[in-house]
Amino acid sequence: MRTLCLNADEAGLKTAGSILQQGGLVAFPTETVYGLGADATNPTAVARIYTAKQRPSFNPLIAHVGSLEEARRQGLFSPLAEALAEAFWPGPLTLVLPISLTATVCDLARAGQPSVALRVPAHPIALALIQAAGRPLAAPSANRSGRLSPVSHGDVLTGLDGVIDAVLTGETCRIGVESTIIACLDGQPRLLRPGGLARESIETVISRPLAEAQPGVVQSPGMLASHYAPRALLRLEATHLLPHEAGLDFGCSFRCFDRNCQPVLDLSPSGDLHEAAANLFAFLHLLDRQNFSCIAVAPIPKRGLGEAINDRLQRAAAPRG
Ligand code: TXA
Ligand code: MG
Repeated sequence: MRTLCLNADEAGLKTAGSILQQGGLVAFPTETVYGLGADATNPTAVARIYTAKQRPSFNPLIAHVGSLEEARRQGLFSPLAEALAEAFWPGPLTLVLPISLTATVCDLARAGQPSVALRVPAHPIALALIQAAGRPLAAPSANRSGRLSPVSHGDVLTGLDGVIDAVLTGETCRIGVESTIIACLDGQPRLLRPGGLARESIETVISRPLAEAQPGVVQSPGMLASHYAPRALLRLEATHLLPHEAGLDFGCSFRCFDRNCQPVLDLSPSGDLHEAAANLFAFLHLLDRQNFSCIAVAPIPKRGLGEAINDRLQRAAAPRG
């Protein structure tokens, strides 16, 4: 199969929309990372996502919708879930809600759960594609299972060229880490995955601390110990570089290394966590292409988006299964 590279103009979006309506796979930019989209109401189309990504098992996917109104058709909103959607959609927040009686998202996209994960993305191309397809789009990140998430259409093609029908080209994803996932299934909003929306912003809206995920709630790839892995090994909390290492710095903290032969990229020389999140996957992709066996990573503060950055780095550094 040849993967079509489509411009996100009227003609490109129309082609992409009809590929999706016929059960095909189209990768598209969102403000977090590139998604691999399929018609969320069509189980055969959704099954193709798992094959393309070589995901070992069926895990629930996020259904991307164009508006809060459409989200209400799919999931049951508690008052707290409404407040979160009003405050942060469109944006990098995914809500896991009880499934509604009027839902059209298929069982396979929900991995048989009685709940559905919903997000209204804040990206004009993503929203235009949802509209062109005329249905919710199931979309995990557009990479092979376990690998780095893609933040440009080039990253998508590196992993999935010839395996998916099309990719829409767009600018590099602005936020650079996946959405924050909150379950609103009981009275307590629970943090299932830290992401592009900081915990502190959410807690301000709900006027209470977020609860932790309950044990036994679905384990899915993004929550596995080893995930988001580059080819090179990662050494975290590094204060300096060893001779055989490339470096991922933060706030110009690395000391003593050979500038001529050790590539070092700084996630944010000024120590800005938003800038660091936006650069995270892109810089890991770049350093991984330099064929060093190990990447030393400087300490990143744990506050704000630092929670999501540290989460992804720990999974990328974990022993591989
Ligand atoms: O930013 C993002 O969230 C990106 C873009 C493309 O929107 N998508 C993404 O999807 O990261 P994915 O498949 O890598 O992560 C989906 C996560 C799963 O790991 C799982 O934790 C959670 O969503 N999830 C989905 N449905 C769920 C459900 N019914 N119950 C609990 N968790 C669910
Ligand atoms: Mg992923």
